[in-house]
Amino acid sequence: MGTLRLTIPSPSPALTFVRNRQRKFLYAGLSSILLLVLWGTLLIVFDAPYGGLGQGIGSDGVSLEAVRNQTLGFEKIFCINLPSRTDKRDAIVLGSSITQFHVDWIDGVSSEDMSPKAYPPHLDDADRPRMLPGEIGSWRAHVNALQRIVSERISTALILEDDVDWDVTLKTQLHDFAQGALALQPNQPHASPYGPSWDLLWLGHCGMKCERNSPFYIIKNDPTSVPAYALPQYWAGPAIHPLVDNIKHNRLICKSTLAVCSTAYAVTLPAAQKILAAVSVAPTEESMPAGESIVYDVMLGRLCETGYLRCISTYPSVMGNWKGAGLPSKGSDIQYRYDGPREERVFEGASFWGVVYSVMDNLGGLVSGERVVRASVRDVMLPVLDLGRVKGNRGKLHVLDYEEMVLSGV
Ligand SMILES: *[C@@H]1O[C@H](CO)[C@@H](O)[C@H](O)[C@H]1NC(C)=O
Repeated sequence: MGTLRLTIPSPSPALTFVRNRQRKFLYAGLSSILLLVLWGTLLIVFDAPYGGLGQGIGSDGVSLEAVRNQTLGFEKIFCINLPSRTDKRDAIVLGSSITQFHVDWIDGVSSEDMSPKAYPPHLDDADRPRMLPGEIGSWRAHVNALQRIVSERISTALILEDDVDWDVTLKTQLHDFAQGALALQPNQPHASPYGPSWDLLWLGHCGMKCERNSPFYIIKNDPTSVPAYALPQYWAGPAIHPLVDNIKHNRLICKSTLAVCSTAYAVTLPAAQKILAAVSVAPTEESMPAGESIVYDVMLGRLCETGYLRCISTYPSVMGNWKGAGLPSKGSDIQYRYDGPREERVFEGASFWGVVYSVMDNLGGLVSGERVVRASVRDVMLPVLDLGRVKGNRGKLHVLDYEEMVLSGV
């Protein structure tokens, strides 16, 4: 087909393109070659100023500011951690203390400690892809988190895996995210600062897709938007379209379908009940289709994709991952990794993925009271960030006309 030309939004209003009907007629009269060239042209229309959402306080008095409280606007925050990985618990306790939020623990599970009778349902179906022992343990730990939410009637909870890393400016990011999430939902009374009608907020993922043909929110000039080159491998996508996803310094917030990696996600109590049913107690063809993987994050993504859960997510992911310095096997407790014979072992430095101002990467300065942080990736808006000058960013709803490749505000 024709060339796909991206017209990057220019700061100058003089370069703003507006496509109208007359122009369409003119195009129709041109030669077929020209038509082919124009076919895929992406016109980006940034016509209205950002803002004007007016959603400061929910109708029953929940303030957006609640996202900055000790549990980030959720009732509880849980982190899943194998008790034997005390090193990771140290890191989460320190990082969350610096970012000023509080984490409760869900003990990770080793599949060897489980009765095979308690393994995921349909695990042994003839055509089912095999699950690693670590994946079975991880499934159980996540299900334990859901069980606790249901049992204690926790209205909303954020669930983290213990190799999570996040941005020093997390609370500001969540404030911006909540504004985006609210813009995607009906304007109804709500008890959660994130809005009235969501089941799952997918905040830490490794790839996601937005619902096609529904409006999505774009925040421009978000200094915490990880540039595309520096993203970890994303296994699902594009979020909207590669040309839209990769506009520099943008963050997209949308109703999401497929997503992978359960690094960080929030659920409501009714959603925890629904997921507990679908992945453990009462699985259906919808949650565990024949021949498909039932690894936990894959199932969760499927439940968003089928519409069983109303999911909201952001591209790029808000949360990322890190691995402390040491042997390569130090990272994941799910995938088995052999470090080689003792005399040949290679030690690695710490590594960080998917976050611009990584808390874990900046711990040294932060514990000494430094108020300036460094970006962990290159090619960002601000390589060095003064924490006294962090400010939020408002965005605006957009739609993409996939046929004409026109992006416009709504
Ligand atoms: C934070 O805000 C949420 C939502 O309003 C609330 O459920 C939670 O209890 C608050 N957390 C704290 C520690 O006050």
